[in-house]
Amino acid sequence: MLIKVATPVAGSATELDSRRLAAESGKLARGERLPRIVTQRHRIDELDAASLLEGLVATPAHSNPKFFYDAQGCALFDAICQLDEYYPTRTEAGIFTRYRVEIARQIPRAAQWVDLGAGDGAKARDWLGVVHARRYVGVDIADAWLRPAVSRITEAHPGVEAMGVVADLTRPLALHALLHEAADSPAVFFYPGSSIGNFTPQRALELLRAIRSHCDPRGRLLIGVDLVKDHAVLEAAYDDALGVTAAFNLNLLRVANRLLGADFDTRAFEHFARFNADESRIEMHLRARRDQRVHFSRPSPATRDYRAGETIFTESSYKYTRERFATLLAEAGFNGHQFWTDGDARFGVFLASPSAT
Ligand SMILES: C[S@@+](CC[C@H](N)C(=O)[O-])C[C@H]1O[C@@H](n2cnc3c(N)ncnc32)[C@H](O)[C@@H]1O
Repeated sequence: MLIKVATPVAGSATELDSRRLAAESGKLARGERLPRIVTQRHRIDELDAASLLEGLVATPAHSNPKFFYDAQGCALFDAICQLDEYYPTRTEAGIFTRYRVEIARQIPRAAQWVDLGAGDGAKARDWLGVVHARRYVGVDIADAWLRPAVSRITEAHPGVEAMGVVADLTRPLALHALLHEAADSPAVFFYPGSSIGNFTPQRALELLRAIRSHCDPRGRLLIGVDLVKDHAVLEAAYDDALGVTAAFNLNLLRVANRLLGADFDTRAFEHFARFNADESRIEMHLRARRDQRVHFSRPSPATRDYRAGETIFTESSYKYTRERFATLLAEAGFNGHQFWTDGDARFGVFLASPSAT
């Protein structure tokens, strides 16, 4: 089994390392408590480097979106969320603001709020007080983002027990032991931002089933889903005029250079996004501007010739109709759901529950 829950205990190497790092960076004031961070990713560099290399040398070349999120990728994603063209973040925020009290009424009190793909945790911070959460469990692959996110949750909600789990959602979700520590508190999963769209519908179904397996009858899933709409609006959201999404996409090549000891020239590729109507997904690609040879030195030496015009397929973002996503929820074992949307039906928020509501 490659995934192992390693709960840092006082004095463990993980905790001592983070304490030393925090002290060295001056972030840990005297008497201040470190956030509890549980790490489920072991040997991440070797395993992930191998899968990244495999995808980049394959034909057609591809990579998983999880590789975007190094520190620079996280910062670029933040900037994307501010763009005029990128409607999902502000549309979802508008739905949350407008219906927060109504939605919160359907959510059990004293729950364990599990924030999947937590990012900076900002969206969750707005919910914890309204739903009277007992615990916050932020889950993200980017531990550099997770630690400050958990600290900020503690600052904003000192009465909530906050912790982070560094985990990869493309691998089996295994939070049962952690949630069992507060077994009398139901799990409420929060998966905003339409991140579910990064999975194929089949993989999305598997993740939804895994989430369902963590829910007792009181459990809930509050999830944001981007809806099918005018293709021009969709494509502009993934190809903004300022080129921020292009930078986010090209950053993948920097990640590959670092993780794989590769020599990608980021100027030799260009960002390319299109809506694939047959698959109902936005596709992001990196297109080679010229013929070129790229060398990789880790985890095993390799070379790959990219022809001018050839692309590396870096991200899918599936778009759903309300009915299609409701079917997926039902197939995953969520027998009831409620739905909220904006005035233009651009974005959907589902609150799913195990039993019919
Ligand atoms: C698109 S951002 C969304 C952040 C925030 N929840 C929001 O809605 O604005 C995606 C987040 O998911 C994280 N992420 C991406 N792939 C992941 C994976 N395979 N496992 C866990 N987290 C992942 C990224 O690090 C990032 O914080």
